[in-house]
Amino acid sequence: MTNAKLDRLDELYRRGEPIVMITAYDYPSGRIVAAAGVDVILVGDSAAMTVLGYGSTRDISIDELLVLTRAVRRAVPDLPVIGDLTFGSYEDSNELAVRSARRFVDEGGVDAVKLEGAGAMLPRVRAILEAGIPVYGHVGLLPQSVRTREGYRARGREPSQAISIVKDADDLAAAGVSALIIEAVPTPVTKMITDRLRIPVIGIGAGLEAGGQVLVYHDVLGFGEGRLPRFVKQYASARTDLVSAVERWAADVRARTYPALEHTYPITAEAFAEVQRQVGR
Ligand code: KIV
Repeated sequence: MTNAKLDRLDELYRRGEPIVMITAYDYPSGRIVAAAGVDVILVGDSAAMTVLGYGSTRDISIDELLVLTRAVRRAVPDLPVIGDLTFGSYEDSNELAVRSARRFVDEGGVDAVKLEGAGAMLPRVRAILEAGIPVYGHVGLLPQSVRTREGYRARGREPSQAISIVKDADDLAAAGVSALIIEAVPTPVTKMITDRLRIPVIGIGAGLEAGGQVLVYHDVLGFGEGRLPRFVKQYASARTDLVSAVERWAADVRARTYPALEHTYPITAEAFAEVQRQVGR
């Protein structure tokens, strides 16, 4: 089954041009990244932390992520949108995986779904593909498998782990995924995978050798309060700017300088005199 929006990404890949992917989680973030000209949007389960205030990606439900996915789709009718299968929505059986993937397509309007890991997940990937739904793979650091803070360390720095990431990437490509997200691995391992595969490899913390890059919207724009991962480059200070804006508005309210005349609605003297006449002063 062809999908013109996804085909455009393959075209970029064939031309050797970097694919720009970013997360978005609602209507305004979708509109902003579309206006900035990104190539593809991931409605990531990172929404658990960035938008819903949970502690990990394991905490968000499929119903919660679908609400956000629909909002993004309304914002960007013409861009490819990838939906992230949430923790617990696909691992246990092929039937569950296909049902969840279908919900992302039918209710969320996505062009493809992403799921984490290979190995035991390969039958899930194949089942979703057989149902006619494109799949993005995800190898390296798999946030849904992380249970401790140390768990967010880079993957593939020792040979055995690097070899297993390369094998996972090979297996996912052979299963037929449209593209691969590779997270937090050393650049030479990314290069090896990128060179071996004939599909786009989109890196996050995986160096310049990937065929594209993805980052979390809130990290790029500086919404966060805590420490950022090493691989994040922040291009704005949204939190600082927004706190300052709300502070200035609150100060105006307290000083009674907001609202000013231009923020109010006029009524003619005659009309108000009539109100006073009928209501009484
Ligand atoms: O949920 C997410 O934001 C992701 C990216 C880290 C790739 O999966």
